[in-house]
Amino acid sequence: MTQLPKHTLRVGFVGTGFIAHFHLKSMIGVRNVEVTGVFSRKAENREKFAKEVETLGLGSCRTHESLEALLSADDVDAIWILSPNYTRLDVMRALHGAIESGRSKVFAVACEKPLARTVAEAREMLTLAEDAGLNHGYLENQVFCTPVLRGKEIIWRRAASTTGRPYLARAAEEHSGPHEPWFWQGDKQGGGVLSDMMCHSVEVARYLLTAPGAPRNSLKIKSVNGTVANLKWTRPNYAEQLRKRFGNDVDYRNRPSEDFARATVTLEDQDGNELMIEATTSWAYVGAGLRIQLELLGPEYALEYNSLSTGLKIFMSREVTGSEGEDLVEKQNAEQGLMPVLEDEAGVYGYTDENRHMVECFRKGQKPLETFEDGLAVVEMLMGLYRSAEINATLQFPAPELEHYVPVVARKGA
Ligand SMILES: NC(=O)c1ccc[n+]([C@@H]2O[C@H](COP(=O)([O-])OP(=O)(O)OC[C@H]3O[C@@H](n4cnc5c(N)ncnc54)[C@H](OP(=O)(O)O)[C@@H]3O)[C@@H](O)[C@H]2O)c1
Repeated sequence: MTQLPKHTLRVGFVGTGFIAHFHLKSMIGVRNVEVTGVFSRKAENREKFAKEVETLGLGSCRTHESLEALLSADDVDAIWILSPNYTRLDVMRALHGAIESGRSKVFAVACEKPLARTVAEAREMLTLAEDAGLNHGYLENQVFCTPVLRGKEIIWRRAASTTGRPYLARAAEEHSGPHEPWFWQGDKQGGGVLSDMMCHSVEVARYLLTAPGAPRNSLKIKSVNGTVANLKWTRPNYAEQLRKRFGNDVDYRNRPSEDFARATVTLEDQDGNELMIEATTSWAYVGAGLRIQLELLGPEYALEYNSLSTGLKIFMSREVTGSEGEDLVEKQNAEQGLMPVLEDEAGVYGYTDENRHMVECFRKGQKPLETFEDGLAVVEMLMGLYRSAEINATLQFPAPELEHYVPVVARKGA
C-alpha cells in the first residue's frame, strides 16, 4: 500500500500524439510531478517524447516497448491515458489486470475526453477503476480553463449570491476538422463532432451552472434534444480532400460522421428551478483557429468568453510568407492578415490547472473535481443527444435504453 501524501507523483503517459505533447507543455506549470515513463506503439514517437521530457526538465523518462512494461514499472504511480478513443478500454483492462495480479503499483489514473465511445464502455471504465482501487480523474480541460475558473468564481460570489442562480449556459467549440484519420471514422472515434467536441461543451456548461462546491449530481438532467448535420465534409470536393489527406478509410461520400451538432439539455436544481444548456459544435468552422465561446446568464448578470478575442493580435502582410503552422493558435487556418494569438494556450485552455489539480489530488489521495463518474455522465448526455437526433424527438432522462446504444455513424458497417 502506497503511503500518501507522496512528495512527488511519478506519471506514465500512454500515447505520444497531439494531446500528450500539450499535456507535457502544461506540466512545467505543475509542482511535485515527474514524467517517468511513456508507451506508444512506435519507438520514434516514444523517443521524441522522452527527449521533450528531458528538455522541459520534467524528470527522467523511460521509454517502454509494451504497455505491460509501463504498467509494471517500479517508478510509475499514475497513468495518463492519452491514446485514441478505441484503445481506452484495452488500456484500462490491462491496468486493472496488472494491479489485480500484483504486477503494478499504479494507484491513480487520468483519462482524456471522452471517457469512452458508449455508455457501456464508459461504465466499464469506471467499474475497472473502482474495482482496482484506483483514484480516477476525467481530463476535461475546459472545466479548468482560466476564464472559466475566474468567471465562475466572480459570477457565483458577487452576482448569483445576491440576485439568484444562473439559469442558462451556452457553450460552443468549433474548428476546421481533426488532424488524424481515426477521429473521422465513426466506429473508431465513437461518432463525429458530437462525440469529439460536444463532450467539452455539455460538461463545461454543466460545471458553470453548478453551485461552487456542490456535487455535479445536484443538477438533474431532465431531457436532451440533439441535431446532427453534414454541412461541409460530404460535399464532393471536400470528401475528396479528406480521402487524399487521410486515405480510403476516411470515406465521407459513403460513410460520413456528422460535422455539426447542436444540443439543448434541460436540467433541474435541488430547488426545482429549470435550467438550460445550449451547445453547438462543428468541424466546419473556418476562422483563425479553434474557437471556444461560452456564456453564463442569470437574472441580473451575464458572463461571456470568446477564445479568439485575444488581447494579443499580430498582423502579417501578404509579403510575409512561410510554412503552415499552429504556432499562433490551435487548429490555425492562416499565416497572414490580422491573427489572434494565445500567449499561453496550455494555461488558457485549462491543461495547466487541470494537471496541477489531478497531480495534487492523486498525491494526497483526494477525489478530483472531475472523475470517471463525470466522464460517464457526459457519455450518457452524448448518447442521449445522438438518440434524440436519430428519432427526431426530445429524449426524457433517465433513459435506460442508452445503456447499450451505439450512434448510427459508429455502428459497424454504417
Ligand atoms: N482535451 C482536448 O481538447 C483534446 C484535444 C485533442 C485530443 N484529445 C483526446 O486525446 C486523445 C488522443 O488524441 P490525440 O489528438 O493526441 O491523437 P493522436 O495525435 O492521433 O495521438 C494518438 C497517440 O496514441 C498513440 N497510440 C495509438 N494507438 C495506441 C495504442 N494502442 N496504445 C498506446 N498508444 C497508442 C499514438 O502513437 P503510436 O502511433 O506511436 O502508437 C499517438 O501518440 C483522444 O482521446 C482525444 O479525444 C483531447
